[in-house]
Amino acid sequence: MFSSTIFLSLLFPLTITAQSCGTRCALYTLAWSDQFDGNAVDTSMWNYRTGPRLASYQRKENVEQIDGELIITQKKESYQGLNYTAGGLISVPNFHYGYFEAYVKLNKGGGWHNAFWLMCGNGSKTVYTNTHTEIDIFEIETSKPKEMINAMNFWLGNGNRASGYSAVHRPRKNSTEWNLHSALWTEERVVFFENGKLVWDYTFGPQAWTHNYINIWLTTVANAAFGTEDSALPSSMRVGNVSYYQKDYYLTSSTLCFFDNPSSANCPSNAGYSETGSGWTTSSLSGYTKKLSTRYVTGSSNAAATWSLSSLKVSGTYDVSAFIVVYSNSDPKAKYQLLKNGQVVQEDIEIDQTKGVNRWAVIASNVTMNTGENWAVRVKASGVGSIRADTVKFIRTA
Ligand SMILES: *[C@@H]1O[C@H](CO)[C@@H](O)[C@H](O)[C@H]1NC(C)=O
Ligand SMILES: *[C@@H]1O[C@H](CO)[C@@H](O)[C@H](O)[C@H]1NC(C)=O
Ligand SMILES: *[C@@H]1O[C@H](CO)[C@@H](O)[C@H](O)[C@H]1NC(C)=O
Ligand SMILES: *[C@@H]1O[C@H](CO)[C@@H](O)[C@H](O)[C@H]1NC(C)=O
Ligand SMILES: *[C@@H]1O[C@H](CO)[C@@H](O)[C@H](O)[C@H]1NC(C)=O
Repeated sequence: MFSSTIFLSLLFPLTITAQSCGTRCALYTLAWSDQFDGNAVDTSMWNYRTGPRLASYQRKENVEQIDGELIITQKKESYQGLNYTAGGLISVPNFHYGYFEAYVKLNKGGGWHNAFWLMCGNGSKTVYTNTHTEIDIFEIETSKPKEMINAMNFWLGNGNRASGYSAVHRPRKNSTEWNLHSALWTEERVVFFENGKLVWDYTFGPQAWTHNYINIWLTTVANAAFGTEDSALPSSMRVGNVSYYQKDYYLTSSTLCFFDNPSSANCPSNAGYSETGSGWTTSSLSGYTKKLSTRYVTGSSNAAATWSLSSLKVSGTYDVSAFIVVYSNSDPKAKYQLLKNGQVVQEDIEIDQTKGVNRWAVIASNVTMNTGENWAVRVKASGVGSIRADTVKFIRTA
């Protein structure tokens, strides 16, 4: 299904829009999806979750695709000092704001902690060294099949949690039946849905905690705290499909990597961002979201930074804004341009980066953009003060 979607979209402006969250998801179109067709996990889309967690050891041998479903098998099996094995998948691509959805049926029998959740990760471990955010679209202890938890967890990067918030829903449809779980993550909030019904609306602005790139996790682990029901094993967590729908594009100058090894190919990208002129440096001033670094260069009149959407995915009307990082020694006459396929379509909007508060500044409104076009924002230094670069957003309005 996914590969045919990609194929068709090259020939026709075909778009699949999100359905299960009503008008809130208007204009969100399918950007990444797995229907789990075929007889093997597509490892260009997924890494395996491996290693110990709670009472089970996670193995790739426990993860299969059968009859169009992802099957993660829970076993009573001694492995690496633990008495159970299970597994999980973690998406290879990382994502930002959008609508995330999965169709899931859980095992009968207690003692398993199952989840569809969002956090940076590539399967190597559960703890990463940078500050990051975890969004749990559902966590279900199978001992309580009619109880579902939605949660937000804010991590410090040293293995410790700064804070966490959750909502518990009960009673609900039994998790041993098929349920559609989803969440819409925007710059202002995360809204959770179950079977198309809004269940939790959590306000989550970019200064509340880091809005970093995240990966999709589909996982099951044995939880000894709830007493694993051995008589029900082997059993499985089944997933019919999982999807990511996107509306807006955020491009950032941040070089902060959420993995331990910043040279890892799996690091969240600052793809689309480039600098010209020498002397660009990472600043200690943060920008639109907490903990993400920004960039600056001082006294260089030929310096510029460009945020470029190499090939727009979906035609529409967009508003374009740049985040202004204000500081007393910044550039008082920074000039912002909008470019289409390399040509300037809107000249020099002058913005004083020394005045006011950190904010989004509108660069262009109601711009008609078409699939395949390259759209970019460029900021040029005046040569006075330090020009600062952070994030640019393309917000689809129609
Ligand atoms: C595994 O099961 C054995 C036998 O019941 C028990 O002695 C051991 O403590 C269990 N291991 C763990 C890690 O729970
Ligand atoms: C959930 O459904 C399973 C059958 O799939 C059943 O055994 C179990 O009792 C149900 N649980 C509740 C709390 O209704
Ligand atoms: C996933 O499956 C559910 C249930 O059939 C369906 O509502 C949803 O549209 C499917 N998503 C995709 C992208 O196929
Ligand atoms: C995950 O990233 C780490 C670096 O932090 C790397 O050592 C490891 O090989 C990566 N694993 C996968 C499956 O890509
Ligand atoms: C953009 O379009 C909307 C709806 O047509 C209109 O209300 C608004 O004034 C326009 N904004 C600009 C800056 O042209």
